[in-house]
Amino acid sequence: MSAISIEYHDKMAIVHVDNPPVNALSQEVRQGLMEAVETLDDNSEISAVILFCKGRTFIAGADIREFGKPIVAPHLPDVIDRIEASTKPWVAAIHGTALGGGLEVALGCHYRVAITSAKLGFPEVNLGLIPGAGGTVRLPRLIDAQDAVRIVSEGKPVSASSASQLGLLDHVFEPEIAADELLEKAMEFTVGIADEAIPAGLSSRPSLSQLSAEAWDTIINGITKKSRGQISPVEAALAVQQSCQMDADEAFKSERQRFIKLRDGEQSKALRYVFFAQRQTTKIKRIENVSPLPLNICGVLGGGTMGAGICAAMLLSGKKAVMVERDKDTLDAGLNRVNSILQASLKRKIIGEDKFNHMQANLTGSIKHDAFCDCDIVVEAVFEDMGVKQQVFTSLDAETKPEAVLATNTSYLNINEIAASVKDPSRVLGLHFFSPAHIMKLVEVISTDVVSDQTLSTGFAFVKSLGKTPILSGVCEGFIANRILTAYRKECDYMLEDGSSPQQIDAAMRDFGLPMGLFEMADLAGLDIGWATRKRLAATRDPDERYVRIADRLCELGRFGQKTGKGWYIYEVGSRTGISDPLVDRIIKEEAALSGVTRREFTTDEIMDRIIGAMTKEATSLLDEGIAERASDIDMAMILGFGFPRWRGGPMFISGTPN
Ligand code: 3HC
Ligand code: NAI
Repeated sequence: MSAISIEYHDKMAIVHVDNPPVNALSQEVRQGLMEAVETLDDNSEISAVILFCKGRTFIAGADIREFGKPIVAPHLPDVIDRIEASTKPWVAAIHGTALGGGLEVALGCHYRVAITSAKLGFPEVNLGLIPGAGGTVRLPRLIDAQDAVRIVSEGKPVSASSASQLGLLDHVFEPEIAADELLEKAMEFTVGIADEAIPAGLSSRPSLSQLSAEAWDTIINGITKKSRGQISPVEAALAVQQSCQMDADEAFKSERQRFIKLRDGEQSKALRYVFFAQRQTTKIKRIENVSPLPLNICGVLGGGTMGAGICAAMLLSGKKAVMVERDKDTLDAGLNRVNSILQASLKRKIIGEDKFNHMQANLTGSIKHDAFCDCDIVVEAVFEDMGVKQQVFTSLDAETKPEAVLATNTSYLNINEIAASVKDPSRVLGLHFFSPAHIMKLVEVISTDVVSDQTLSTGFAFVKSLGKTPILSGVCEGFIANRILTAYRKECDYMLEDGSSPQQIDAAMRDFGLPMGLFEMADLAGLDIGWATRKRLAATRDPDERYVRIADRLCELGRFGQKTGKGWYIYEVGSRTGISDPLVDRIIKEEAALSGVTRREFTTDEIMDRIIGAMTKEATSLLDEGIAERASDIDMAMILGFGFPRWRGGPMFISGTPN
């Protein structure tokens, strides 16, 4: 079966693209399209052409798998130029997503129509690229330059209705129609334009609007700051700027040069690796053919910081949620926390009034565990204490359906021991969310010694249904992400004693592209959490291991970070920006002297090398111990859990050991 076929309807030709799963522009598709234009231009019976894609989506872009290999002709820009130059009007009929090269093909067509659920965009920047087949040239010749630069440099697709308002679409079929009705509607549209002259191709038009040099400077500076070291958004904006200032031919050449340079650069390689690494996390051999259980009603035990966030995530993904707390006061507090999250989502227009009301109606609370009797899954988020956890799991065992999945959100406790308090421990697993749980995309799915495939499969499906990325981990202290965090935190402690400072380490990490440095992060999260863990592990710590007491000394002074106004930094009332504190410097120097360390200068590069080295070493142990499945899972955990810059690919990618 060919990826491109032509169907004839009186004077109309329908060019079908059929290249599952996302109709990517492989060589076969490009070749087929080129031949289709030639064939149809030669056919005097045909007066118009509809470009229609089979399956779930319009063309979702170039075939990413072809990047890095020699590209075989015809090249995409040539195919699109040929469509634009066709003697017949081409109508792109869009459903699903018209992305990247797919949208570029649509821009080469003379008309664009779509169903309401369609999305259009240029996500190339997320792959470290810019549009490379005329997107930055044709787009500002169709829509306003500011909108064009936003769409290309942010990489977020826009809805069909926004696209229509911007002038990107000629028609949206309203009210909503199903994708399989699109072809018929597109044919009606095409009959309607039969007598009109073919609109001039976008490449022959001037750009729609012009911006002043100052306006461009402001835009480019803003994007540079926001991109934190990632170059593609800036390059995308520069390409649009040039396109507005050059004639189309020059702009095409300039765009292509930028595209090729980026495609062959390190950032794009890293981002393409991350694209596939993210999709790889759910490919778990042992549950390949195991269907998850249905997930209609979900429960949360504990309505504190994490419980409320998890509960909000359940509601935001359209599920019914039951929250159970200890007593009426703590329950009210928990429900209020959820409510505040939903209110904030409403305010930020993430959800509308209707959805907000629906979500509130979907939330119930109780102080009795039997409220979980209809739940398909219950996530426990009570205090981090083995006794408390085992007690509540014994109760959950009695009060839930025997097939319901029981999950714990413990950060550090041994889930095998928690599971042992349930008659059928195979229905227990860990679901380790990150704070704030309604926002953070990472959830570690912790497999115990006896977890069933069915439970694991349901856990993965649950996490995906929340719009988050599940990463499989075995049981160990801290699982994947926190164990790596502990390892590199220790390395930072060593560097403090050896001569660096919190400010220098934090600045090095921010320069590297992390959202904040380790010590700033510790102040935000609270130093008491790590202190409690260190005290819990003190008895089993290897006495020969180097131990740095600086953080403990701060905690002994009641300096728990932002919440106490002091930690590694000092915080003025109402401020979240830390100021360096001479007392901290003094403590660092005292501890260095007590440990007999001769302090020395550190360079920024050395700091980051040591941090990456520590991460990689711990990651290798996680792989050796079988806690993590793949090096790429570890990279994803660092990216999604701690904001490791995507465009660097992750510590394992940097060290050259991804799989
Ligand atoms: N090339 C090759 N494979 C692709 C692909 C692409 N452009 N887009 C998706 N795939 C693959 C995925 O790897 C996945 O493969 P798998 O099943 O083996 O894991 C499969 O298609 C399905 O993808 P998803 O799991 O992501 O499916 P969803 O339905 O969740 O999402 C999507 C669909 C929104 C289209 C999403 O896949 C996506 O965002 N794709 C990337 C789109 C993109 O970045 N396009 C621009 C490409 S660069 C370009 O066009 C350059 C041009 O300017 C010259
Ligand atoms: P928290 O102290 O904010 O909330 C705990 C809640 O559990 C309280 O509201 C308390 O009333 C309730 N609770 C205690 N015993 C209960 C019982 N028997 N029945 C019903 N409710 C009970 O704690 P937080 O931060 O939400 O942590 C909860 C769990 O999540 C812990 O295991 C923690 O290790 C883990 N976790 C915490 C993260 C964080 O950043 N805070 C991140 C990831 C996991």
